Amino acid sequence: MAIITGSSSGIGAAVAAEMAREGAIVVVNYPNDREIEMAGKVLNDIKASGGNGILQRADVSKEDEVINMFAAVIRQFGTVDILVNNAGIQKDAPFEQMTLADWNLVMNVNLTGQFLCAREAIREFLRRGIVPERSRAAGKIICMSSVHQVIPWAGHVNYATSKGGIMLLMKSLAQEFAPKKIRINSIAPGAIKTNINRSAWDTPEAESKLLELIPYARVGIPEDIGRTAVWLASDESDYVTGATIFVDGGMTLFPGFSTNG
Ligand code: BGC
Repeated sequence: MAIITGSSSGIGAAVAAEMAREGAIVVVNYPNDREIEMAGKVLNDIKASGGNGILQRADVSKEDEVINMFAAVIRQFGTVDILVNNAGIQKDAPFEQMTLADWNLVMNVNLTGQFLCAREAIREFLRRGIVPERSRAAGKIICMSSVHQVIPWAGHVNYATSKGGIMLLMKSLAQEFAPKKIRINSIAPGAIKTNINRSAWDTPEAESKLLELIPYARVGIPEDIGRTAVWLASDESDYVTGATIFVDGGMTLFPGFSTNG
């Protein structure tokens, strides 16, 4: 049983699809009624490919909604094995024009949302412990970070700050819960073709400008992240905890230095 927050679109939808393909029952979480149709389509596609799951509405930045989501899932399926802390947004602005509302919105969803969901997941993992026939670990959390946990990003200060926060949220949790056999890791995607960054790749001009930042010379697709999440959730990665896997086509390799410096 895997909860994937923010899986009505983008990277989350691909993570849900890949996990379902590997046999996990997936919770396709969406934040509000505006996204129910998108979430329904994600789940229908999963079912059409032989997978199984449910829809669950919860705004991850709201404590009561997160608590209710976990309670509903545990009531229905008995437990939760995997949390993918994926839900995230951008609300970009030049810093001098950034409102407190822009700042709070991004922090609340991207960082507080991960805190609230991780806390409920860990409470359940601690309660249940290891079930040897399911996994060697007592539970797994995968935090969706970004290359911007290490790459500063002008015009996106709220977003980059939230991702920097996720890095130490993840590492501190990994340290705290390794003795309990709970594994916590991050994926740091680079530029992946989704709606969040559509303007950066949906014209040939934009895409070729973006490719200047990507040594591997292609923009990523959501499945690139979905496959990594499957591995991190499986016992194949049983000795991996507190790690961030950069899935970015080399964006963090300082490509500007390949012909300079
Ligand atoms: C952002 C995208 C951006 C990518 C690489 C992601 O975390 O959400 O908008 O294209 O980082 O800069």
